Amino acid sequence: MSEQHDAVDIIRAKRDRQTLTDEQIDWVIDAYTRGAVADEQMSALAMAILLNGMDRAEISRWTAAMIASGERMDFCSLSRPTADKHSTGGVGDKITLPLAPLVAVFDVAVPQLSGRGLGHTGGTLDKLEAIPGWRADLTSEAMLRQLDEVGAVICAAGSGLAPADKKLYALRDVTGTVEAIPLIASSIMSKKIAEGTGALVLDVKVGSGAFMKTEADARELAETMVALGTDAGVRTVALLTDMATPLGLTAGNGLEVRESVEVLAGGGPQDVVDLTVALAVEMLAGAGRAQDEGEVRAALVDGRAMDVWRRMIAAQGGDPDAPLPTARETETVLADTDGVLTALDAYAVGVAAWRLGAGRARKEDPVQAAAGVELHAKPGDRVSAGQPLMTLHTDTPERFARAREALAGGWQIGEAEQAGSRSVVLDRITAEEADR
Ligand code: URA
Repeated sequence: MSEQHDAVDIIRAKRDRQTLTDEQIDWVIDAYTRGAVADEQMSALAMAILLNGMDRAEISRWTAAMIASGERMDFCSLSRPTADKHSTGGVGDKITLPLAPLVAVFDVAVPQLSGRGLGHTGGTLDKLEAIPGWRADLTSEAMLRQLDEVGAVICAAGSGLAPADKKLYALRDVTGTVEAIPLIASSIMSKKIAEGTGALVLDVKVGSGAFMKTEADARELAETMVALGTDAGVRTVALLTDMATPLGLTAGNGLEVRESVEVLAGGGPQDVVDLTVALAVEMLAGAGRAQDEGEVRAALVDGRAMDVWRRMIAAQGGDPDAPLPTARETETVLADTDGVLTALDAYAVGVAAWRLGAGRARKEDPVQAAAGVELHAKPGDRVSAGQPLMTLHTDTPERFARAREALAGGWQIGEAEQAGSRSVVLDRITAEEADR
């Protein structure tokens, strides 16, 4: 650092729509991480960024500064290339569970550092913790050993990766500044780049159950993240995928593990299988081990992906044969009329699953392994009055009423057969498109 910058000058600069210099960005991120810039100053700067934006060079430098605030992982000692996936979060999004072992079948190592859920979207670690004995916390050495021996690991991110982001994300959460695309993109990508993967596929969700409600916003986020990854030397592509309705037929931790195991056994809902295969094809191509779609699908059907799953779960103390927990109470929601289910809102189902106990309102809250929503029909299906539309699962039946409130108005039964034909993958964003 050649000169000391005053936080107030940096806030004023962004307030007045100026471009921040590399030095200003490096200094403010470092000083905030050390506690020399106060939370109220960083809140003001985050709000100025939300309102006035940052250009590509600023976002890139901001991301690099957050990476430099902590440690970087290094997978160079592995004999295989690495590929990872990040999803911006959705309802029923259990794709990581079948995807990681599926990609590992083709000799690509998958180091998947995941988180716990907050709010209406679930967290991958919460889902896997429904498996008796399974542990999320691994040392870096244990992670590397598992990548070497099994090829796939899904575990908790250590606190050493991008600590600046950890502090800033918590601040954004309570200051109305989460929704700034430059801040979301740099937050996600600082962690993914620090993690050291060679190739990265981003699953950017669009729709009521997602962070990004419109395709235009999702596209902007995807393009920003693809550009950041590419600038950092990570081969990055993004798929824009539909989150208007839940993925698959389950939302809730143990229920989603059950569905993932069905996919690994060659069955499972079509949308979950299609998205798992589409993301695997991208990860394999990014890692330089391209496979055609048919070959990837075959590894789900012939048991190769299931073999890796069983070894991956067992390596982290889990028993892949243990029965999954079941909820103490269930209630069924019935269709009130005959017709075609034309809409089933992802956000409504996500909030219902959360209120049943599958998710948490505060970071420290526990989750119920067996709670959630099981769907019996998806948009496009014909239903008749009195037929079960979904089953609600919980250990605490006093939660049913609030879950039903969340679901009120969350589906439509009509006459048109128009729904159900939309493909789950809406678009693909490459480095060339992100550059335009
Ligand atoms: N997920 C993150 O990791 N960061 C954000 O800013 C938003 C979602």
